[in-house]
Amino acid sequence: MFQVLEPQAPDALLGVMTAFAADADPSKLDLGVGVYRDATGTTPVMAVVRAAESAMLARQSSKAYVGAGGNRQFAAFIEALVLGTSHPARVAARVVTLQTPGGCGALRLAAELIARTGRGTRVVVSDPTWPNHMPLLGGAGLAVDTYPYYDAASGTIAFDATLAALERLAAGSVVVLHASCHNPTGADLDAAQWQAVAELLARRGLVPLVDLAYQGLGDGLEADAQPVRLLAERLPEVLVAASCSKNFGLYRERVGAVIAVAAGPREAGIVMGHLQALARRSWSMPPDHGAAIVATIAADPALKAQWSAELDAMRQRITTLRSRLASALAAEFGDRRFDFIAGQRGMFSLLGIDAAAVRALAAEHHVYVAPDSRVNIAGLPEPQVERLAGALHAVAA
Ligand code: LMR
Repeated sequence: MFQVLEPQAPDALLGVMTAFAADADPSKLDLGVGVYRDATGTTPVMAVVRAAESAMLARQSSKAYVGAGGNRQFAAFIEALVLGTSHPARVAARVVTLQTPGGCGALRLAAELIARTGRGTRVVVSDPTWPNHMPLLGGAGLAVDTYPYYDAASGTIAFDATLAALERLAAGSVVVLHASCHNPTGADLDAAQWQAVAELLARRGLVPLVDLAYQGLGDGLEADAQPVRLLAERLPEVLVAASCSKNFGLYRERVGAVIAVAAGPREAGIVMGHLQALARRSWSMPPDHGAAIVATIAADPALKAQWSAELDAMRQRITTLRSRLASALAAEFGDRRFDFIAGQRGMFSLLGIDAAAVRALAAEHHVYVAPDSRVNIAGLPEPQVERLAGALHAVAA
């Protein structure tokens, strides 16, 4: 049976993880996969997560299944975190939320739900986008295409081209949007641009699928959710894939949720039934541990405040690292070509260097970034900022 299989090309980001692991140089620096690291280069367990996990383990009396919808306290918390407690769509009972294994599980379930609508729906993702969007969504049987998003020369959003491309889509098409923060560019739409996108989607009958993997790491928990709240006010149908990997540091626990806003309560109930059926035939019932930690934090005002403060500190540190890196690059290169890094948000920016320079960074300087030159600024320890700037100057000046 297996003889017919061709060798599989490695996934872009997993390939970087493998290459980094194989590098024996003690000074190696991993700026590939998107994980937050502290000044010592460690991805810490958040103190609030440790506290909640201990409390939860002491209290937990059973490891019985949680059901296809997952932990309902977790789902209610994530829904309120994303949409706010009194969003009109929630008040109108138009929203359903199902726990998933990570944001990937949410994206895949959303894609399978879209495929079930059976209309040969076209899905478009930004160019560039997170490399796993295409296989995740396409693997559910959807035809996935791109829309222009980013102008690499200026490090800014090519917004006129974005709007023009969305304007040409057939009604019913699904548009994948990154609420905050855009992966891989770090270039997010501003409030006026979100208004324009919401107006266009409403007028053209397009459906947004919002990837919300970094809530709290852009401009703050509330600010980062505003685009989703706007879309859910303006449009009859919205899908959201939310993740707790980054904002709770629960990467390996695989904690996420798919949120569906439907035209009315009846439609929302039917959508929930489909989501549960789709989950049942994929992973059956989701893993509990990480979601139970989040639910424990959500249920305790002191833990919730601690979480919010820890997350704020992470975000502020990333913003400071962005400024420091832009300044160090300006000093190395003698110009301001990398200033866009300071103005962008979240973990990532695209350096805009070519594939040969990316390879030279790894081979000659033991610095690993993604093949598209995406750098994980949240993974850059402070003592390494000048070293990164110097290495970039050596390979790309
Ligand atoms: C990333 O973009 O690096 C993260 O979302 C991790 C992943 O699964 O690719």
